[in-house]
Amino acid sequence: MKVEDGSTLSRTDCRAKGGAPGFKVAIVGAAGRIGQPLAMLMKMNPLVSVLHLYDVVNAPGVTLTLVTWTPVAVVCGFLGQPQLESALTGIDLVIIPTVVPRKPGMTRDDLFNINAGIAVVNLIGNPVNSTVPIAAEVFKKAGTYDPKRLLGVTMLDVVRANTFVVSTSRTSLFDVPVVGGHAGVTILPLLSQVKPPCSFTKEETEYLTNRIQNGGTEVVEAKAGAGSATLSMAYAAVKFADACLRGLRGDAGVVECAFVASEVTELPFFATKVRLGRGGAEEIYQLGPLNEYERVGLEKAKTELAASIQKGVSFIKK
Ligand SMILES: NC(=O)c1ccc[n+]([C@@H]2O[C@H](COP(=O)([O-])OP(=O)(O)OC[C@H]3O[C@@H](n4cnc5c(N)ncnc54)[C@H](O)[C@@H]3O)[C@@H](O)[C@H]2O)c1
Repeated sequence: MKVEDGSTLSRTDCRAKGGAPGFKVAIVGAAGRIGQPLAMLMKMNPLVSVLHLYDVVNAPGVTLTLVTWTPVAVVCGFLGQPQLESALTGIDLVIIPTVVPRKPGMTRDDLFNINAGIAVVNLIGNPVNSTVPIAAEVFKKAGTYDPKRLLGVTMLDVVRANTFVVSTSRTSLFDVPVVGGHAGVTILPLLSQVKPPCSFTKEETEYLTNRIQNGGTEVVEAKAGAGSATLSMAYAAVKFADACLRGLRGDAGVVECAFVASEVTELPFFATKVRLGRGGAEEIYQLGPLNEYERVGLEKAKTELAASIQKGVSFIKK
């Protein structure tokens, strides 16, 4: 089944009615707890003209809830693996808020093996430290791997870091780089590099680092088994997707943190600030000067990250 404002769209004619040029975005896992609010927010993004919602369940229903109001993108729903290719054909940006599939009859490759060489991929599904290496191996196998176009989404850590830093200081807006990975000690906020510059006591640094590293666990425990930080993740995913689209449009100076193939450390993947452009993560920034607390944190992060990356690679090579 396919739903597009109540009718059927042909694969080759998927641009928004009215001809406003915009990007085509697909959400894989669109019926999920993150997928649904993410779909709503992406529909409202003025850079998006066509939004494809794919899931193995309930994609038509979710699509119908989004086609009954106008702004901005045309929304099409796609259900189940036979429609995956149509869902991803001609897409500029694919956002994946789901886990590596383990449904009967599906292979791990399903999420990644179509159109991979063309679209920029924003991977949200956890564990990001392992799913990005898994996706890279799948793309390599398919001969479509472009390391610049595969981005693990760590934006929620940055959003949390900015919020928590604001709560301990008098300024209302901060830019806090968060590097490493996206789990526990691999999440390394660089408080010494906060902009505008701000100094923290040892206690504040420890409190903030700990709170940022455990922000996800805090929500999971508060929800007591009913999911993770779904709404804040949807917000962070849209913020990151919007940055990717501005980069694809050719805007200058679009810089965000992401978990990408990297040579910044000895590890094959690492999160740092990256410059987003027409080709995806076009420039990967170095870590910059770290203080002693951050240097110790970096070593811990690298040890855990190395194991998670290896786990991902072994998982897919099994
Ligand atoms: N990167 C981050 O900061 C961050 C933050 C929070 C959650 N997450 C992760 O995001 C993922 C999604 O979380 P959620 O709460 O929305 O989960 P969810 O279970 O509510 O939704 C997942 C959706 O994916 C769909 N799905 C499963 N297999 C699929 C397949 N093969 N193809 C297409 N769709 C498929 C499911 O039907 C479901 O609708 C989880 O892995 C979660 O841990 C990441």
